[in-house]
Amino acid sequence: MKNILVTGGAGFIGSAFVRHLVAAYPQYHLVTFDKLTYAGNLDNLLPVKDAANHTFVQGDIADREAVRSTFEQHRIDTVVNFAAESHVDRSILAPDAFIMTDVVGVYILLDEARQHGIGRFVQVSTDEVYGDVPEGFSTEQDAFLPNSPYAASKAGGELMVRSYHVTYGMDTVITRGSNTYGPYQYPEKLIPFFTTEALDDRPLPVYGDGRQTRDWLHVDDHARGIDLALHQGRPGEAYNIAGEDLRYNIDVTRMILRLLNKPDTLIRYVKDREGHDRRYAMSAEKLRALGWTRQHTFEDGLQATLDWYRQHEWWWRKIKTGEYLDYYKKQYADRLAAAEK
Ligand code: NAD
Ligand code: TYD
Repeated sequence: MKNILVTGGAGFIGSAFVRHLVAAYPQYHLVTFDKLTYAGNLDNLLPVKDAANHTFVQGDIADREAVRSTFEQHRIDTVVNFAAESHVDRSILAPDAFIMTDVVGVYILLDEARQHGIGRFVQVSTDEVYGDVPEGFSTEQDAFLPNSPYAASKAGGELMVRSYHVTYGMDTVITRGSNTYGPYQYPEKLIPFFTTEALDDRPLPVYGDGRQTRDWLHVDDHARGIDLALHQGRPGEAYNIAGEDLRYNIDVTRMILRLLNKPDTLIRYVKDREGHDRRYAMSAEKLRALGWTRQHTFEDGLQATLDWYRQHEWWWRKIKTGEYLDYYKKQYADRLAAAEK
């Protein structure tokens, strides 16, 4: 393993992975390949802009020519695929891009990888493929029951990866991460959205009764889990990367407000997300057996994350303009207008 292609490396988790690998493995050359959609952001890669072992290429994983020429030009031997449309609410408003990137794009990337004799191919996936988990903890052999267009498209991508392992003998590994939070997360997801809104004393739209459960994982723990799966995962296997720290959304919302010293009166209960999964929960036992442990508790990780957003207004204020405001209006204007306090 020498030349690693990290697709989607200008996004939230991909950029944390790139920043980690550039520092931890000076012997590798990393090529970040990213379309720079609304969620892709070169500011996320500023910490590695002078690194000798990193190159950025703008491109789409669903564009066969762009993928092929990047494989050849950089003599790629390993792929870690983060590239995805990743936000459930956007998948409900407009599923097309999800199918194009998370299913068709994964297929094209895999197919070119096979034709170029790529060694290891890591597909970064999500706990959402398991669907709603009313009780207990999902393990890697559980059935897929995806409920949103996002979850279904990620499940479709994973199934293509599985088929390329079984049919063509490709050396694939899949990771399924739980809800991830930390610095550089696009402010449409719960924690950065509520944090940046609360900092401006704006209302926080909690879907439904707020008693949906998510399992929170710090982005650095997620990145280290993918590093371990890349280096030590067994071919054809999937690994859950779970924070194993379950919280109700309303409790997370109240923690954010308390840590920012803002009042609970900012909370608005709004119309629920369609098809909203009540609970995600996975077991991390299989990855732990490879030596992974979580290093951040949710309390410490959240505090550090809020501090980061407070100190990096330059990063998020320029995002919350233009297209972001159009999306905000579509997703929240009617909900907030009809909201109960
Ligand atoms: P993100 O939306 O922040 O970043 C996605 C990145 O992919 C962006 O840089 C974007 O420009 C790029 N991209 C999108 N379409 C592309 C295409 N066609 N070709 C090339 N690049 C493209 O997402 P994230 O939160 O960093 O998630 C990264 C991966 O981890 C995704 O595959 C997601 O499904 C998975 N995941 C996310 C979470 C989470 O809580 N955020 C949890 C588990 C798994
Ligand atoms: P999100 O960050 O979108 O992640 P996911 O849908 O992948 O779990 O949402 C986390 C939880 O927070 C989810 O149950 C939906 C809820 N949520 C709200 O209540 N209000 C919001 O404005 C957002 C963005 C999310």
